[in-house]
Amino acid sequence: MRAVVVRQFGDPSVMAYEELADPEPGEDEVRIALHAAGTNPVDAGNRADGTWAGIHLPWIPGYEFAGVVDRVGVAVRNLRPGTRVVAMSDFPLQGGGYAEYAVVAERDASALASTVSFVDAAATPLAGGTAWDVLARLDLRAGDKLLVLGASGGVGSYLVQLAAMRGVEVLAVCRRENHERLRRLGAASCIDYTDSRVLDESSRAGGARVDALASLVDGMTIDPWLKAIKKNGQIAAIEPPDIDLGHLVDANLTLHGILLSPTAERTRALVGLLASGELVAPIARVLPLAQAADAHTLLEQGHVGGKIVLTTQGKAD
Ligand SMILES: NC(=O)c1ccc[n+]([C@@H]2O[C@H](COP(=O)([O-])OP(=O)(O)OC[C@H]3O[C@@H](n4cnc5c(N)ncnc54)[C@H](OP(=O)(O)O)[C@@H]3O)[C@@H](O)[C@H]2O)c1
Repeated sequence: MRAVVVRQFGDPSVMAYEELADPEPGEDEVRIALHAAGTNPVDAGNRADGTWAGIHLPWIPGYEFAGVVDRVGVAVRNLRPGTRVVAMSDFPLQGGGYAEYAVVAERDASALASTVSFVDAAATPLAGGTAWDVLARLDLRAGDKLLVLGASGGVGSYLVQLAAMRGVEVLAVCRRENHERLRRLGAASCIDYTDSRVLDESSRAGGARVDALASLVDGMTIDPWLKAIKKNGQIAAIEPPDIDLGHLVDANLTLHGILLSPTAERTRALVGLLASGELVAPIARVLPLAQAADAHTLLEQGHVGGKIVLTTQGKAD
């Protein structure tokens, strides 16, 4: 098979598009002929240095993918060759999605309705799953207000939709060019963080504005936004936040640190929402697998405006 292989950690150029032996499924595993693989900033981070995750080289990036089962192990009970599936591999250790074939445990693959495209399905488990975890931890009610820093990204675009579905009022923070798209996804209002007047407004609000803040941007200083959170409010951070702990204490705020804990049940729930049309996969770019390095360069610039999906030549739908 052709696959994108990292043999040493480094910049996007370390990814080589190579011919490798086709993987074979073990007893309780399925082999998937891949059509599409979602990309995420963590793929680029782990390509640069995956030691925090215990990644061994050589390594094929890609934690989320979709395609058609083409071979199954002897102990596989439910999935059959020919079944369309979406899957997430063991996060953050495994990867394997930037390839023509991937092998996963049967329990990690879920049948995919014919109405959901491989591209949309492949984009959803990691970013959608993280958004799901953020909402689960915040446990907001209909009518509550949520301020989302990084609303236009992969995670943010799913979070805005899932929160709006619950009746939560979402204030989306991102660059102006993304505002119209986010309003369509359910944001009640949008704030352009590049407009310096915005931070003054946020401070003037002096508290009592939002029930929770979701911090989805790596390296962003969130102190200027803290005063917009009500006393006894909550913060969910998916990257280590740069934050004034004094204000956290003074305002009785609760900080949730969140690392995605993926499950196939949640992926099934998310693709179910795609199938019903309640959730939209925020696809920004679709590139051929051979252009994985271009995808990583874009991811590292931090303004993709949704998800980049890689497709296997001739198989995109
Ligand atoms: N903890 C976990 O389990 C977990 C899971 C998934 C992702 N993550 C991490 O969470 C982060 C977001 O992931 P993602 O997939 O949503 O990334 P993404 O698609 O690249 O989105 C990046 C977001 O950051 C915003 N942004 C970029 N530079 C900014 C700046 N200087 N000031 C304010 N906002 C800025 C972008 O907004 P504009 O383009 O509008 O500027 C965009 O909304 C990444 O660091 C990722 O590694 C963590």
